[in-house]
Amino acid sequence: MSRPEPSGEHSLSNPVRGRLNAATLRTLDLYAHLLVGGRKQALFADLPERVVEIGPGTGANLRYYRPGTRVVAIEPNVHMHGPLRAAARRHGIDLELRAETAERIGLPDASVDAAVSTLVLCTVPDPVAAVREVRRVLRPGGRLLFVEHVRADGGHGRMQRLAARPWQWFFEGCDVRRDTERTIRDADFASVDVQRFTMRSAFLPINPQIAGTAIR
Ligand SMILES: C[S@@+](CC[C@H](N)C(=O)[O-])C[C@H]1O[C@@H](n2cnc3c(N)ncnc32)[C@H](O)[C@@H]1O
Repeated sequence: MSRPEPSGEHSLSNPVRGRLNAATLRTLDLYAHLLVGGRKQALFADLPERVVEIGPGTGANLRYYRPGTRVVAIEPNVHMHGPLRAAARRHGIDLELRAETAERIGLPDASVDAAVSTLVLCTVPDPVAAVREVRRVLRPGGRLLFVEHVRADGGHGRMQRLAARPWQWFFEGCDVRRDTERTIRDADFASVDVQRFTMRSAFLPINPQIAGTAIR
């Protein structure tokens, strides 16, 4: 497969909601760490020296990477870039910031050992294309590590349906009804390991969640 052209700046850099979303992520940073930090620490324990992270936002995951790790950050919302750079400095991360989308990553085929996605496949406009693109840049045996929220069934699913539209507006496209586990399982990885869990938080629509590894 040929290398796609870098896609440049993204429409998500909406002057109002782009900033609002960046401010929200910064405000929730510590809360998210308390809720899922242990799980992320275990998942990200033996990452290589270079990691591609799609949609890193304001850098919630940088604290879990070894200082000195080179993080290629695929982040289209330019309002995240300042806080993301600051977080990289705080945690001793060597940041390569790219204003690209996960659907069109400007990296060659099979050039990456590990990729990370947390709470991103709910938001990207085309999650199937994003996972396909991550798989393209991973080398055979390379890993996608993920923590994502997914659609629920039954009463919780009905609540998600009610919350979906305002949630999607406020969080810039975040769709609480996506079947992201299916999207990852359908993406032709050699193996996929998924654990499902419930996050104990007030943010009910973003439960249940999945954490796991997909190996190319
Ligand atoms: C809910 S935030 C999650 C941020 C961070 N990963 C975390 O766990 O806190 C979703 C992130 O995905 C980014 N995003 C949205 N569309 C994207 C796309 N097409 N490609 C890559 N990132 C995207 C947003 O700008 C935002 O930073």
